Amino acid sequence: MSVILGIESSCDETAAALVTSDRQILAHKLAGQEAVHAPFGGVVPEIAARAHAEIITPLIEAALAEANLKLDQVDAIAATAGPGLIGGVMVGLVTGKALAMAADKPLIAVNHLEGHALSPRLANPELDFPYLLLLASGGHCQILRVEGAGQYRRLATTIDDAAGEAFDKTAKILGLGYPGGPKVEALAKTGNAAAVPLPRPLKGSKEPHFSFAGLKSAVVRAHQSCEYKSEDIASSFQQAVVDCLKDRLEKAIADHGAVPHLVVAGGVAANGPIRSMLEQVASDHGMQFTAPPLWLCTDNAAMIAWAGAERFAAGLTDTLDFAARPRWPLDPAAEKARGAGVKA
Ligand code: KG4
Ligand code: ZN
Repeated sequence: MSVILGIESSCDETAAALVTSDRQILAHKLAGQEAVHAPFGGVVPEIAARAHAEIITPLIEAALAEANLKLDQVDAIAATAGPGLIGGVMVGLVTGKALAMAADKPLIAVNHLEGHALSPRLANPELDFPYLLLLASGGHCQILRVEGAGQYRRLATTIDDAAGEAFDKTAKILGLGYPGGPKVEALAKTGNAAAVPLPRPLKGSKEPHFSFAGLKSAVVRAHQSCEYKSEDIASSFQQAVVDCLKDRLEKAIADHGAVPHLVVAGGVAANGPIRSMLEQVASDHGMQFTAPPLWLCTDNAAMIAWAGAERFAAGLTDTLDFAARPRWPLDPAAEKARGAGVKA
């Protein structure tokens, strides 16, 4: 059994965790930055990087103390090396490198998306490769076929905004504040999902990808028209996202075949109606639905430590000159999707 220290700092959570190769979570610590970004209605990269730098060392110390471990009892150090806000990624990666060098331990440079993609296996020992994964977060919206640690086939991606980004922008338009997803979901509960006519971009399209920018623009127009109540806009928006995700997943299953498990990861997986839709799609296709617990869906370091554990077991370690990557597709062989803002 090996013990992996995981470090995460690619967006607006600083996190440190200790996880074993047999799935024990010995400690996980997380410091959010909501208060410092809230006045700006979104994450400000420079502020994020500084906030990571201030807290990361005490957070790692606190994780080691909680696990009752010393650094030299750790087998490897896994740090998110991208994709994400480069200043923040560098803070975590440089910290990981310094600890690896000081303690003479191997470094594992983890792709944040791989952390999300493998996190369901930390929660569910029965989840074997391959599985179909909907990865929906603030920065990404992809359907992946996960074939093993480091082995991914990207079946779909977004050609503009990510699903979580659409939630965050809708929250901003409706004046709900940041982070938007949970606030839109809460407001949507009191609204009518059929009240506001909103588009379902790319629904039924032969192209396998997602698009949410047009939906966001339609939310802006609906709001500006003053014809609709905010809760009806929130509810109709959420329903449009559910419909788009469902349509694209159905297409991926039709085009590439069903596998035993349908899995969801990323912050958007916290959304109740989206989870219910996924359960239904899975049961319609004879697949089992797996979702990690909510705390493991949003950004955290346990998923980075676990991805580190899977890579360590496969003999995949990195050298100390590994450079932080603001963009880092999980499937480098995937065909480039059209769209100026395509991230992976
Ligand atoms: O994975 P994550 O924590 O960070 C990224 O890597 O992006 O995902 C955060 C995203 C945000 O866009 C947030 O609004 C969204 O996940 N989110 C939700 C919910 N909770 C978080 N979206 C919809 N419904 C939710 N309940
Ligand atoms: Zn994430």
